[in-house]
Amino acid sequence: MMQPEEEKELVKTIVKVSRYTIYITLIAVACMAITIVSLFNNGSGTTASPKANEGAATTSVTAPSSPLAAAGTTPRAIPADAWKAPDESTIPAGKAGDMIRYGKELLVHTSQYFGPQGSVAHITNGMNCQNCHLAGGTKLFGNDYAGFIASYPKMSGRSGKVEPASERIAECFERSLAGKVPDTSKKEIQSILAYMKWIGKDVKKGQKLFGSATEKLAFMDGAADPIKGKAVFTMKCQSCHGNNGEGMLAADKKSYTNPPLWGKHSYNDGAGMYRLTNLAGFVKNNMPFGATYESPQLTDEEAWNVAAFINTQPRPHKDQHNDWKDLKKKPIDFPFGPYADAFSEKQHKLGPFKPIKDAQKELTVKKS
Ligand code: HEC
Ligand code: HEC
Repeated sequence: MMQPEEEKELVKTIVKVSRYTIYITLIAVACMAITIVSLFNNGSGTTASPKANEGAATTSVTAPSSPLAAAGTTPRAIPADAWKAPDESTIPAGKAGDMIRYGKELLVHTSQYFGPQGSVAHITNGMNCQNCHLAGGTKLFGNDYAGFIASYPKMSGRSGKVEPASERIAECFERSLAGKVPDTSKKEIQSILAYMKWIGKDVKKGQKLFGSATEKLAFMDGAADPIKGKAVFTMKCQSCHGNNGEGMLAADKKSYTNPPLWGKHSYNDGAGMYRLTNLAGFVKNNMPFGATYESPQLTDEEAWNVAAFINTQPRPHKDQHNDWKDLKKKPIDFPFGPYADAFSEKQHKLGPFKPIKDAQKELTVKKS
């Protein structure tokens, strides 16, 4: 016979055990529900609202679940000590702070000031600097401005001379914004420089920065394929960027809600984005809008292919015969000859890039 005390203990244990069983069952059911929901989301998760820009920078995306991870979009971590933009509260009060704030405003709403209906001048294609330098140039792998000021003045392989920071800004006006440069002595460029100085105030010259510019994706074995890229575009980009990559204008028609990817109002063929490694790396970590380095939504191959599709569509041309005079410094993905090697313009544009890279390495080894 059990003692009354023992009996009590036994009952308690039975109650505990059955409680745990219920908990475990509930958890299992919840897990199944989450899996089912995320399976459904994989098909539609990237068809985000076409008005993405309105929530710019703050859009969050759920980490892709296992079926996507298998396709090469595994979630990745950003190191805890990676660069972060300074807090806005560190912008000083008064005139100096006003310049920094105006500089940021110009980068975020460039079109309102310099676009086809701009209030300061009509000298650009209507894109904003922020369209490619995401979140005011603070997003890692989104062409952030972290190390910019610390690295200038700098020897430019493209122009073959030492350039001041203002010249590098001018280049994006002429190429990415396919326009003209505002007078560099005036308030606007000075304010942009003030903002860039503030953004990069804690960065030292030569400091290695995680996440700067765009991710260098591993090369594909073959060439990037514009036809496969078109399929990616139709499925994952067109809803925001338009059937013909023309973008989507805001209601006031003065700026884009979603910027153009090609055509008359897009970046010209002298822009950084016209080089496939830059565009593919940007797309992988930032598009469809809301994607991040931590939660990419495209495989590397999809990113390369859609980049190939975009950069084989028509866009404004810039005469670049004065660029990269020293052929040995020409980037492997610069799509205009002449070259120091024997590869074609087409291969320099779409790859395969590995043989070009290998040939370049051999050249440098022979020389030394
Ligand atoms: C179409 C996309 C695009 C737009 C729009 C754009 N940029 Fe850029 N920008 C790039 C890319 C890509 C690079 C890196 C290019 C390279 O490797 O040459 C870059 C580089 C830069 C750099 C050098 C950064 C560094 O750390 O060396 C600065 C500064 C810059 N851009 C400023 C601007 C400003 C200011 C505007 C607006 C007037 C602007 N950009 C608009 C794509 C763009
Ligand atoms: C949900 C809407 C949305 C989708 C889907 C989307 N984008 Fe974007 N994209 C944007 C917005 C908004 C910006 C500008 C970001 C900003 O200004 O903060 C942008 C910017 C860009 C830019 C740089 C600016 C330019 O116009 O050249 C490229 C390149 C780009 N997207 C490519 C793609 C590709 C490729 C896909 C498909 C894989 C894609 N986008 C899907 C909304 C979208």
